[in-house]
Amino acid sequence: MGTEPYYGPDFGLLRRQDPELAQVLLDELDRERGGVQLIASENFASPAVLAALGSALTNKYAEGYPGRRYYGGCEVVDRAERLAVARARELFGAEHANVQPHSGASANLAAYAALLQPGDTMLAMALPHGGHLTHGSKVNFSGRWFDVVPYGVRRDTELIDLDEVRDLALRHRPKLIVCGATAYPRLIDYAVFRGIADEVGAWLLADAAHPIGLMAGGAIPSAVPYADVVTFTTHKALRGPRGGAIVCTAELAGRIDRAVFPFVQGGPLMHVVAAKAVAFGEALRPEFAGYARRVIDNARALAGALAAEGMRPVSGGTDTHLALVDLRGTGVSGAEAERRCAAAGITLNRNVIPYDPEPPAVTSGIRVGTPCVTTQGMEPQEVAEIGALVAAAVRDPGVAGKVRERVSALLAIHPPYLSEY
Ligand SMILES: Cc1ncc(COP(=O)(O)O)c(C=O)c1O
Repeated sequence: MGTEPYYGPDFGLLRRQDPELAQVLLDELDRERGGVQLIASENFASPAVLAALGSALTNKYAEGYPGRRYYGGCEVVDRAERLAVARARELFGAEHANVQPHSGASANLAAYAALLQPGDTMLAMALPHGGHLTHGSKVNFSGRWFDVVPYGVRRDTELIDLDEVRDLALRHRPKLIVCGATAYPRLIDYAVFRGIADEVGAWLLADAAHPIGLMAGGAIPSAVPYADVVTFTTHKALRGPRGGAIVCTAELAGRIDRAVFPFVQGGPLMHVVAAKAVAFGEALRPEFAGYARRVIDNARALAGALAAEGMRPVSGGTDTHLALVDLRGTGVSGAEAERRCAAAGITLNRNVIPYDPEPPAVTSGIRVGTPCVTTQGMEPQEVAEIGALVAAAVRDPGVAGKVRERVSALLAIHPPYLSEY
C-alpha cells in the first residue's frame, strides 16, 4: 500500500499492462500536439478536467438525482453533481440546470422529449444552412419522429432569414422553435426568436452547443434570458469534458429532469459530471472572460486573413469562434482542401456552405475555428499567419512541407498542454 491518498491515472501502469492501447493514447497526444487544430467544435480540456475524467467516479452507478438515487453509496458523487449544477446555474444565471446528458445530441433528445410528442411540429435551421443533425435531419431521430419545418439563411446576406422564420411559424404553428447551429458564424438574435415564439405560442429552445463557451465568458449575449430551454455541449469553446447539459426555466425543471432520466438515459457518467463541475469552475474564473474574447478576436483575424487570400468568409466574417469559408474562388473543393491542409499539419473540416452546389461529401467550403489555438495562447497576428498557411496549403499541395515547417515553429512557441489554463 502506498501512502498517497489519491489513486488516479497511472500511464506507466497502462503501458506495462496494455502497450498496444497505451501507444494509441501517445499517438493521439502527438497528433493533437503535432499540428494546428482548427476544428471549431474541439478544444484542449485542462489537465484538471482530464484528472476528474480519469477518476474512480467512473465506477459509480447513480441513476436518479442528488438525494434521490436508485443506488446506495451515492453520497459522495452527489456532491460532484450538486457542485456541477450550482456552478452551471451561477455561470449562466439559470433557474435550473441538468448536467447529466451524455452529449449534445442526448441533450436535444431530452429537450424534445420534455416538450413534444411524436408527430408534433417544430421549426429548426436546415442542416445545409448550418443546422445540426438533431434539428430535423431525416437520418436522425429528430427528422423521423417530428414534423420538422426547416428555415435557412438568405441568399444575399447569408444571415438567418428572420422574416421567413416568422412566416413559417405563423403558417405551421409549431409547438417548438429551435434556434442554434453547428456552422453559423454570426450572432443569433434570441430576442427576435423569443418574440416569434410568443406570437405563435411555441416553446423556444436555443441549442447553444457551439457558442456556449463564449456566452459563459460574457463575450457574446447569452441565450439564457430568452429561451425556455438551452441545450449545449461542454467540450467545445467551453473547454470541458465531452458531454452535454441543459439549463431551463424553473417551470420546466421537472419535465427536463424526467426527460433526461429515466426517459432518455440510465445512469449518469459521474466522472464526466465531476469534470463538468471542474470546467464550470474554470469558466467562472475572471480569466475565462479574456479567453472567450480572444477566441473571437482570433476568429476575426483568421477570417480576415483568409478573405485577403481570396477565400470568402460566408456572411462576410464572424462574430464568434468560427468562420465558414467559401472556396469556390480557388477551384478547390472542401474535401480536397481538408486533405491538403491535413498534409500540411493543419486539421480542419470540409463543410457545406449555404446553397452549396456540391454534396456534403465534397462541399464548396471549410469550417475553421479558434478555441484550440486560443487555448494554446496564440494571438491574432499568429492566427492570421495560420490563415495565410491554410490558403497556401489549399492552393498548392506542393508547399505542404514548407507550411508544415511554419506550423511546427508556431507550435514550438505555443505547445498545447504546457501553457497556463
Ligand atoms: C448545434 C449542435 N447541437 C448538437 C450537437 C451534438 O453534440 P454531440 O456531438 O455531443 O452529440 C452539436 C455538435 O457538434 C452541435 O453543433
